[in-house]
Amino acid sequence: MQRALVVRLSIGMLFCLVGLSFTAPAHAQLDLVPEPQHVTRGQGVFELESGDRITAPGDARAQWIAGFLRDRIEQQTGVALQVVAAPDYGKVVLRIDPSVHGDEAYRLDVTPRRVTIAAADDRGLFWGVQTLRQLLPLQHEVPPTIPAVSIEDAPRYSWRGVMLDVSRHFYPVAFVKQQIALASYYKFNVFHWHLTDDQGWRIQIKRYPKLTSVGAWRTEADGSRYGGFYTQKEIREVVDYARERNVMVVPEIEMPGHTSAAIAAYPELSCSGKPITVPTTWGVFRDVDCVGKDSTFRFLDNVLDEVVKLFPSPYVHIGGDEVPEGVWADCTSCQQLAKAKGLQGEAGLHSYFVNRIGAYLAGKGKTLVGWDEILEGGQLSPRAIVEVWRGPEGAKQALANGNRIILAGPFYLDTPIDRMTLEDLYRTDPFDDPLFAKYPKQVLGGEAPLWSERATPLNGDARLYPRLMAISEHLWNPAAHDWHSFLLRARAQEAWLASQRVAYGPEDEDIVDYRFIFNPTYKRWRIRAARGFDDLLLHYTLDGSEPTAASPSFGDVLDLYKPATVTVAPFRGDVQYQASRTFRIVQNLALGDPVTFAAPPAARYSASLTDGILGDIYLADGGWAGWQGVDMDTTIDLGQPTVLHSIDARFLQNMQAWVLLPRSVTFEASNDGKNWTSLQTVPLTVDPGNMRPFIRDVTFSASSPVTARYVRVVAARYGQPVNGIQTWIFSDEIILK
Ligand code: ACM
Ligand code: ZN
Repeated sequence: MQRALVVRLSIGMLFCLVGLSFTAPAHAQLDLVPEPQHVTRGQGVFELESGDRITAPGDARAQWIAGFLRDRIEQQTGVALQVVAAPDYGKVVLRIDPSVHGDEAYRLDVTPRRVTIAAADDRGLFWGVQTLRQLLPLQHEVPPTIPAVSIEDAPRYSWRGVMLDVSRHFYPVAFVKQQIALASYYKFNVFHWHLTDDQGWRIQIKRYPKLTSVGAWRTEADGSRYGGFYTQKEIREVVDYARERNVMVVPEIEMPGHTSAAIAAYPELSCSGKPITVPTTWGVFRDVDCVGKDSTFRFLDNVLDEVVKLFPSPYVHIGGDEVPEGVWADCTSCQQLAKAKGLQGEAGLHSYFVNRIGAYLAGKGKTLVGWDEILEGGQLSPRAIVEVWRGPEGAKQALANGNRIILAGPFYLDTPIDRMTLEDLYRTDPFDDPLFAKYPKQVLGGEAPLWSERATPLNGDARLYPRLMAISEHLWNPAAHDWHSFLLRARAQEAWLASQRVAYGPEDEDIVDYRFIFNPTYKRWRIRAARGFDDLLLHYTLDGSEPTAASPSFGDVLDLYKPATVTVAPFRGDVQYQASRTFRIVQNLALGDPVTFAAPPAARYSASLTDGILGDIYLADGGWAGWQGVDMDTTIDLGQPTVLHSIDARFLQNMQAWVLLPRSVTFEASNDGKNWTSLQTVPLTVDPGNMRPFIRDVTFSASSPVTARYVRVVAARYGQPVNGIQTWIFSDEIILK
């Protein structure tokens, strides 16, 4: 690929060198994404000149589109055109032409004399403008030129969506708008806004202010408050911004599951009515809306009343996924309802719930959309649209039931880049399935969801791009299957994305993968960074502050020879690519000394206890040693009798991973490794019900210094299994002073 590019550039340079007087076509290939359905190259180029006119029909929408084109051209090339209402015949003509057939279809003709975009309606006109923007030169050119071409284009599917989960992490309005603008640039036409979930309710509902005053905020493991929400004014602003860009915003209000945040605000929504807090961890939670109470439906109807007023979209997504089994089984009201209506168990209640909400929405002129669990119970109205995520079975069932479907499962962008590479995504066309061919009218299209447990405003761009480009091509052009052509075009897009300050990711690996290693021979700590881009730099600080692009940096390796707190963040230029990571090194008299165990730690959690490296409460950072179902019984050999003032053993509690504090910690000392002196036993109060992770230092402080060659630390396990599961003991360091 690289070679082809080099050849093209050198031909271009050759023209310059020999001083040929015609304007050489610099654009050897049109770098359009998604690739249009029909492209015919013409002769020569169109030159943009200030003052030239863009003419468009006089209606407000066409005039807005013309103004948008003028502004984008000026931004990118510096050339200021002027917009005039038709019938004046400008150099750039936007025209409604009923002979252009097909929904969203357009025709774009560029000749040396004129640029014409024709479409049967304004949606097509706007896509023509988006294609034209991709033909504008990225480098400075005088005059800027557009290659002559004739394009006839229309989408493969009518539903081309991007979903953003703003609950697990909150994304500011500016980020949301930027994503809508980018999605529209690649001809996506649906922004599915996943506005509510367990970890945060993000849409202001005036009738129920606690949904946001309580439900939009959570207390994180480290005690900090996290959250945010969109006011109705902001929502309207985003909806308008999207509509201007041919993008329909479909709101998702999750129900009856994934509702912990709403229940934290209004506990009466759940079967038990018990107060809960907004969770800080990920997963499926047992607190869901009670189907058996009429008041639940009154609440949801009232919420939906406000939602439908904010979103002109004819669709409302109600989630419907991942309702835990048996959750309604213990509820008297739910069971009474099931009996009264003759519903078959939990699935019957689920069906009843979905259809009741669906009927309410239908009364408001809206169609219900839900994840494929809404099929469960077998009673789903064929009016509903099913978003398929769990595999082909849901698609099959929905299509047979007469439902329209949106395919999302193959496009989950929360999948790490190295497990869903650009190439994998491009080479597999999930629509290329005989099942779908049988129901052409029911397959609306697809959607790429970005679930945000691990995606934030800092690394979200890299999860989305370049992969969304591959998805846009599947959704737009059924004939585009040439990976090599796509790769060239996608790479050419990166310069434009960079100009928009998009922190697009690598094609097939993560942005950065850290290893943190202590070398006992050299008493050296090394942070090794596997980088997704050669020009990615790791900027760092040593004072606990957040690094900036002005902080010192390293590429592959940073070596440290003394205790430090190193905070590292990846940048390309001045654009940060993901959140910082902190590496903590402490002073330890036992640094690098050998440790033996009565029972070895688990292979997955076998960090050294004398490497000076501390772990963090999230436990997956490689800093921890862990034992499940046995005591931690460790002996450190200092090599020679050593004067000790204190022994500090560090333990983790993180009950989300069944990691529990020990019941007691015993410190012993010896000079021969056989005869032990007990120094102290520290009993601990252990609360397996405390789900908030924390680290506990358990310290023996000598009243007068102890001399010993061997130090033994025995941490006695809690003992009983918790909810049937043996708990773990986790320690990251035994610090001798
Ligand atoms: C989903 O991923 N729970 C729809
Ligand atoms: Zn109930």
